[in-house]
Amino acid sequence: VLCLRVPTDAAWAAEALADVDALLADHAHCELKAASNALSLIARHPDDLELAAALTEVAQEEVTHFQRVLALLSARGVPLGPPPVDEYAASLRRAAGSLPGRGGAGPLVDRLLVAALIEARSCERFKLLADAGGPADDPALAAFWRELFAAEARHFRTFVGLAEKAAGGNRRLVGVRLEALADLEAAIVSALPRRARRRATIHG
Ligand SMILES: [Fe+2]
Ligand SMILES: [Fe+2]
Repeated sequence: VLCLRVPTDAAWAAEALADVDALLADHAHCELKAASNALSLIARHPDDLELAAALTEVAQEEVTHFQRVLALLSARGVPLGPPPVDEYAASLRRAAGSLPGRGGAGPLVDRLLVAALIEARSCERFKLLADAGGPADDPALAAFWRELFAAEARHFRTFVGLAEKAAGGNRRLVGVRLEALADLEAAIVSALPRRARRRATIHG
């Protein structure tokens, strides 16, 4: 799916669905983080108005997703709780920061491509959840996840497109960098402790 090097293991969806409340709380935090990451990229690159406009749209959509998951939590009487430790995203950002060979692309290109990969992994996981058919106590969730699968695929493309602009239109450079970062992502997702993998997380 979307340049990912390793698929999520086949047992993941069933494990995640075993605790839908925890899955939804984690999901809500993922949407919140996606929105705040988009907004913080705008703040770090205030001179790029085109970037600001595109990322504002992403942030807006992520906030809407967050509101919808929040409504699901409150319908189920489940508190949001504190944000879970996001070993996956933190490791990916750290690894990208120390990956040599940017070949003239600035750090913004990496930040956008890391965001693209996080979208790609969420996209893959929402599809797995949707295909699993939704939990017995709320089968309508499957349709929600299918809709999010499509949104995350779109966000993946938005971030890759923004990375290409940030690299001055050098698509080849961005393609090579995306492949290198996708290798890192695959290594990170495969190496996450089994405990973390069993947690009902959208990525990681
Ligand atoms: Fe989202
Ligand atoms: Fe997204």
